[in-house]
Amino acid sequence: MFVSIVLSALIAQPVFAQEADKVKNQEAYIDGLIERMTLEEKAGQLTTYGDEIRLLNPDINPDVNRRKGEDLIKEVRAGRVGSLFNGRGVKGGRLAQSAALQSRLKIPLLFGADVIHGYRTVFPVPLAEAASFEPQLAERTARVTAIEATAAGLHWNFAPMVDIARDQRWGRVVEGSGEDVYLGKLFAAARVRGYQGENLANEDSMLATPKHFAAYGAVSGGMDYNTVDISPQTLREVHLPPFKAAFDAGALSTMSSFNEINGVPASANRELLTDILRGEWGFKGFVVSDYTADMELIAHGYAANEREATKLAFLAGVDMSMQSGFYIKHLPALVKAGEVPMAALDDSVRRVLRLKAALGLFDNPYRSLDSEREAADIGKPEHRALARDAARRSIVLLRNVNDVLPLNKTSKIALIGPFAEDRHHLHGPWTLFADAKEAITVAAGIRAALADASQLEIVQGSNVEKPIKGGIDAAVEAANRADVVVLAIGEIHEMSGEAQSRTDIVVPAAQQVLAEAIAATGKPMIVLLRNGRALALQGAVRDADAILVTWFLGSEMGNGIADVLFGDYNPSGHLPVSFPLESGQQPYYYNHKSTGRPFIRGEAPEFKARYREAPNEALYSFGHGLSYSKFKYDPVKLSSKRMAWDGSITVSTRITNTSSRAGEEVAQLYVRDRVASSTRPVRELKGFKKIRLDPGQSEQVSFTLTRADLQFVGADLQWIAEPGAFDVWIAPSSVQGTRESFELERAK
Ligand code: GLC
Repeated sequence: MFVSIVLSALIAQPVFAQEADKVKNQEAYIDGLIERMTLEEKAGQLTTYGDEIRLLNPDINPDVNRRKGEDLIKEVRAGRVGSLFNGRGVKGGRLAQSAALQSRLKIPLLFGADVIHGYRTVFPVPLAEAASFEPQLAERTARVTAIEATAAGLHWNFAPMVDIARDQRWGRVVEGSGEDVYLGKLFAAARVRGYQGENLANEDSMLATPKHFAAYGAVSGGMDYNTVDISPQTLREVHLPPFKAAFDAGALSTMSSFNEINGVPASANRELLTDILRGEWGFKGFVVSDYTADMELIAHGYAANEREATKLAFLAGVDMSMQSGFYIKHLPALVKAGEVPMAALDDSVRRVLRLKAALGLFDNPYRSLDSEREAADIGKPEHRALARDAARRSIVLLRNVNDVLPLNKTSKIALIGPFAEDRHHLHGPWTLFADAKEAITVAAGIRAALADASQLEIVQGSNVEKPIKGGIDAAVEAANRADVVVLAIGEIHEMSGEAQSRTDIVVPAAQQVLAEAIAATGKPMIVLLRNGRALALQGAVRDADAILVTWFLGSEMGNGIADVLFGDYNPSGHLPVSFPLESGQQPYYYNHKSTGRPFIRGEAPEFKARYREAPNEALYSFGHGLSYSKFKYDPVKLSSKRMAWDGSITVSTRITNTSSRAGEEVAQLYVRDRVASSTRPVRELKGFKKIRLDPGQSEQVSFTLTRADLQFVGADLQWIAEPGAFDVWIAPSSVQGTRESFELERAK
């Protein structure tokens, strides 16, 4: 099937006839390999381990590591391993690949890794980059990531992470694109294009792996690895679309997730991994399990033992087993016993071999293992320049009372807080290959921007979670000597990422105390938040004169912040996640349902959907982001108040920059289906445009809506639209904007 599609497409183009021959020959080659492979060699191609041949930290336990590496090389030579992951460097990669080429059938290894937001040049964490509302920026940083990672001997990226995350307690919010499906789809596709480039066979292209399939972001209570219990509609309407967008963009592998979905673990979920992924979507790539996710079927209470876990995972649709070793250990016996069909085993092996062929590994097993490229392509100045641009574009200005920002470069600044000079928590989680020494700290960025470095005084004031003896007094004294305080506070990167869920998404108490003391001095206080999720801001932090969300911005964090702080770049980021009033509201997201008793400001609050302590609103909602410019939105205009069933309407407004500073604005298109056979969110993002306006300049922003934009997953799990009334906004955030409405007519 796969071959016939590819062949028919190629043969149709005369110029590619020779390409068709190559595919035909490639298929014949793969079929020939499969015919010659033993059961064990087949199971070996479906087995991947952490790369202990080229360890990240070889000098830790050198004797143990050397022995582990030697043992693994033996396994590779024996054809019992098809892929290694998270190794570093060309030298070790060539050693491992040469071992594979000594195996009986000389099938090259596939080298994978988690290069989630940059290899050596680290870009903003994906959640931060989503705040740019610039998918094209994400495509560019993904492209550079692929250039550096392939220069370092990698072929396969365990990215993009495309999980929709509506509960900010979950540590892995940081790895994705936030709470909105539309934004998530665009960033998923952009990153896949960036990683895979024009052709997977190109030396600087790497195979993308949208993960974690699926609904991992819906873990109960925001606790990592926890149960996922959601309706089939929510699965299909919220959690699957970013994966479909990634596959439509060409991704040819995916990773099955740790979590169960409604009682069936995703890594043994045939409906998900076969019926939907291959049956409905026609996915032709391969599925790799997450790390020991097949082994974990036992802990889930879904498999009684290793053998059963292997059978359940494989027959559900997991082609390759990560780290457990279960497939090489149990698949041959399961096939011999007739419990796993040989044809199914061959199909999985074929999928993996096709991707190795598509990456050019049979033509050149040492592809991406070139020490000259490794020296030339990693950490280039233009990569750092892109990292700086991505950093400043990812910053969100939440609050700017009396336009206290931008600061003057002649100001006397007290830079206070545990993240003032920190360099270990600016890359963010999942930066296995970065060098903290090469990162630009907040202090370095500000110092470089100031007219005279002596204008800057730095006081740590407190640790991340513990006070420093005398720290607050020293900080207050420095504040009193300064014109303005820049307070660098927030989360360490270990508070984000895998297995780092938090019960209370607040700035740690010791830093809150520091903020209160600084605020009490009455000096203007600018908060630089370091965060991997939305936070529930409180007290002096919430009430600061200005708040910049600076996430984990990567190698150029300090320069990106300085560019915004002093106005060399006018902030243009908008929130991809809602900042709640309180942690207790989680999961909170803007596109929530109305309920039968919506709390509406100005109306009696009794017996309405709210908490005793707070209305169920955001402090800063999805899509919010200020600029140093001011933008005026004219009322929304519609090309018609009625949309024909097969027709469209154009929604437009004029936006004017009423300030004296050029700036960028993200105009967002929201829709609400007022009445439907399944209750609908109070707003849903259906489009956005980031525009740049000079002082006084106006621009007409228009969007075309069709019935396809109004669809939802109905009771029969099909995407449907229903005639009726719809509200529409073009707005600077998900809680602002003038509303218009239109009617979708019935089919004629
Ligand atoms: C981890 C993560 C996954 C990662 C894999 C390999 O547990 O869940 O995102 O790609 O293991 O490191």
